[in-house]
Amino acid sequence: MSTVAGQTLDVASQFPVLERKGLHYLDTAATAQKPLAVIEAMDDLLRHHNASIHRGVYPLAVEATDLFEGARDRAAAWLGSTSRETIFTKNATEAINLVAHAWGGANLREGDLVVLTQMEHHSNIVPWQLACQAAGAELAYVPIDEEGELVLDALDPLLERGPKLVGVVHASNVLGTINPVEEIVRRAHAAGAAVLVDGTQAVPQLPVDLRAIDADFYVWTAHKAYGPTGLGILHGRAEVLEAMPPFLGGGHMIASVDWQVSRYAELPHKYEAGTSPIAEAVGMGAAVAWLQDLGMERVRAHEHELVAYALERLAGVPCLRVFGPPTADRRGAVVSFALEGVHPHDVAEILARDGVCVRAGHHCAQPLMRVLGVPATTRASFAVHNSRDDVDALIDGLHRVREVFA
Ligand SMILES: Cc1ncc(COP(=O)(O)O)c(C=O)c1O
Repeated sequence: MSTVAGQTLDVASQFPVLERKGLHYLDTAATAQKPLAVIEAMDDLLRHHNASIHRGVYPLAVEATDLFEGARDRAAAWLGSTSRETIFTKNATEAINLVAHAWGGANLREGDLVVLTQMEHHSNIVPWQLACQAAGAELAYVPIDEEGELVLDALDPLLERGPKLVGVVHASNVLGTINPVEEIVRRAHAAGAAVLVDGTQAVPQLPVDLRAIDADFYVWTAHKAYGPTGLGILHGRAEVLEAMPPFLGGGHMIASVDWQVSRYAELPHKYEAGTSPIAEAVGMGAAVAWLQDLGMERVRAHEHELVAYALERLAGVPCLRVFGPPTADRRGAVVSFALEGVHPHDVAEILARDGVCVRAGHHCAQPLMRVLGVPATTRASFAVHNSRDDVDALIDGLHRVREVFA
């Protein structure tokens, strides 16, 4: 149990996997563990309400459809979007590919500019490379400074060139940096650019209000937000989604089909070809309900306190370099570091011997690794179920790593 500025989050017992003895799960940025509420909601759907959705008229199909669409309604309302503007994909990666392919195909032309940042995940780089290569458009990147924050002054000259789109991560999966996305959207819109925000790490960590952010596209993924794998979410502005061509063709995304042409379904179904991930959506809806019960302000306060404590304790480990902003205020629940003279994979392996689960590697951000001047980092990421005990286990483990490599 951990106490946070007068508040208490005591939820570890709600995660069945954490019953494993001696487990310190610090890899939520890769995928979150699942609370019982999510597991039970999916189990209930599969046991008692399973049917193909939207087409069936019998009670089972109506129940499954209501549960599926109810999950969409809940996610949309939670973040300040609408159900029409909330599209289900396979994951965040597919959501960005949808935008890059469908919107990019319709809007990018030779000589156009797309602006990203140096701290993007490969998911928000490679789809734009493909789109820019297809159109003959150019990609440019907003740099980061020594503390792992975006150099916003460098955005101005890029915006003066009239980019078609700006893509920015809300909270970095490597540096932890929380980007001022409202300001970036405002400035990009003033320059006539559309904006895509990658909220994959932000949605499970921060209160997010899509109305305030006002991006044209905002994406996230259920499995990092305590839901199941297999479901990504794209929130888009209705008029933009209506103007775009579909991404994938097939069943469900049509209004009518003839031999040569088809008419497409209304939003959001226009972008949901094929049988939907029904149990996954229901699990995501349960995860959202569970997070709503906790309250995202409390989630943020809990993880902020843990990150502050982790930064303080990591500062006491000799020869250790922490990447990203120096204070927890400017960070999400992710801390990447490097121990001088020890490969990040060796660090992670020795930590694993003591049950400390961290991630080592480039974290799907190879260009960022080059900016940081390292091939890889070790990353600890925090969740609602973590406590100071987990941080202490990490620090003890790092001291042991140093002994092994002394
Ligand atoms: C910032 C960020 N964007 C996108 C992704 C891709 O998420 P998914 O693999 O669920 O598509 C990740 C996953 O690590 C991420 O951290």
